[in-house]
Amino acid sequence: MSAHSATPLARISARQITARKGGEPIVCLTAYTTPVAEILDEVCDLLLVGDSVGMVLHGLPNTVAVTMDMMIMHGQAVMRGSRRALVAVDMPFGSYEGAQSVAYDNAVRILKETGAQAVKVESGPTVAETIAYLTQRGIPVMGHVGLRPQAVLMDGAFKAKGRKAAEYRCVIEEAKATAEAGAFCVVVEGVAEGLAREITAEIRVPTVGIGASAGCDGQILVTDDMLGLFTWTPKFVRRYADLRAEIGRAVRAYADDVRSGAFPAAAETYFAASKAEA
Ligand code: KIV
Repeated sequence: MSAHSATPLARISARQITARKGGEPIVCLTAYTTPVAEILDEVCDLLLVGDSVGMVLHGLPNTVAVTMDMMIMHGQAVMRGSRRALVAVDMPFGSYEGAQSVAYDNAVRILKETGAQAVKVESGPTVAETIAYLTQRGIPVMGHVGLRPQAVLMDGAFKAKGRKAAEYRCVIEEAKATAEAGAFCVVVEGVAEGLAREITAEIRVPTVGIGASAGCDGQILVTDDMLGLFTWTPKFVRRYADLRAEIGRAVRAYADDVRSGAFPAAAETYFAASKAEA
């Protein structure tokens, strides 16, 4: 059978993610580029093209300035590098909080131009109706409650949520409204364990935690954080590698070799002088 006639691997669907509620934990990571997506696709259930890309790859101070074009470009790159995992693309700040028809047009643009299976929105107080509007029109939506990075201008910083009783209740209400509006799963970010467990028990779709304890149905981390590409590691991140140090070592070795003339050697040279034909 030729490569062209082989049946392509079907991707994990939003429905399959929802069916994992209370079952095998859902493994998610962020991805922004083709080569990283190729590596993650083999092991992850869901790849999130997070708007954290603005901070992680573009050096922005927060996610507010991230644009639709940025999300679409990175979404396309991740789709090219994956064939198995569900790919969800973040809707950037300003693309879904206003008129529902604008949110719909932007979500459709993301799905059509990237080929991704779902979008993610941060589920603030007014967003549940928009989630319902999108899901009723065939767009799988992932919610995001608790610490909502796009609310940083209002919050003043990236702060964990749920220490005060009113805030605790508010996060639970937002999670319930998000699930009831039709989200296929909900990211729960930066909340105390008790709150994460209560949300997980109360909603019918899976919770995916980040800084939200083991009390969720799955976990997500920013890949660059868990690979140790930054000097600062948030409390909730476990570093599985120290790639920053590894890259530093490799670059220093390369620089030493260039300066000493050890690189490139004959084997790394086209038609090296010693082997040239007469
Ligand atoms: O933008 C992002 O990467 C996210 C995850 C951290 C959940 O929203």
